[in-house]
Amino acid sequence: MSNVHLINHPLVQHKLTLMRRKDASTNTFRTLLNELSSLMAYEVTRDMPLQDIEVETPLETMTSKIIDGKKLVLVSILRAGNGFLDGFLNVVPGARVGHIGLYRDPNTLQPVEYYFKMPQEMAERDIIVIDPMLATGNSAAAAVTRLKQLQPRSLKFVCLLAAPEGIATLQKAHPDVPIFTAAIDRELNEHGYILPGLGDAGDRIFGTK
Ligand code: URA
Repeated sequence: MSNVHLINHPLVQHKLTLMRRKDASTNTFRTLLNELSSLMAYEVTRDMPLQDIEVETPLETMTSKIIDGKKLVLVSILRAGNGFLDGFLNVVPGARVGHIGLYRDPNTLQPVEYYFKMPQEMAERDIIVIDPMLATGNSAAAAVTRLKQLQPRSLKFVCLLAAPEGIATLQKAHPDVPIFTAAIDRELNEHGYILPGLGDAGDRIFGTK
């Protein structure tokens, strides 16, 4: 699979295994997700462009590197994407945050947007779309389609777990958008859950079940 980046750092894999356990408490699950998303953020931002600036140290002036361009935008796909946010913001505290909410129309089964709030001047920014679970890929593809209308400088999609079906859907719609994930699981079940997966990420993050 081209343009799919598997983040197989041992700490990421270890924490993901602990999160999959059905007896992990809400607190444990959330804490692990927080730690894991910081580790993933570090990998995902590895190629951010840099520029040289002049810095005065206490001893002399030097040329040093700083991240180039406008502030990065993290776009959370509601609601589980919010569980990914804090860990990312620990690594890139200056990032702006956008939110997009989509639900699946029961008749057409197509994603329908119910919320969309983004920072200003998106055309000059790099966007990282975050959602822990890439399941059918329909919401992810719809979110990316919508964000592309704002003509950002770049777009990446980051999830914790991906199903092969979700990767195929997102890549078919947006082959130019790199996907970062900590694991690619076996398949989706008939209800659209990832197998073996970790259950409903939103419920596990927010303790709603
Ligand atoms: N969303 C989830 O939270 N879990 C899945 O397995 C699939 C989609």
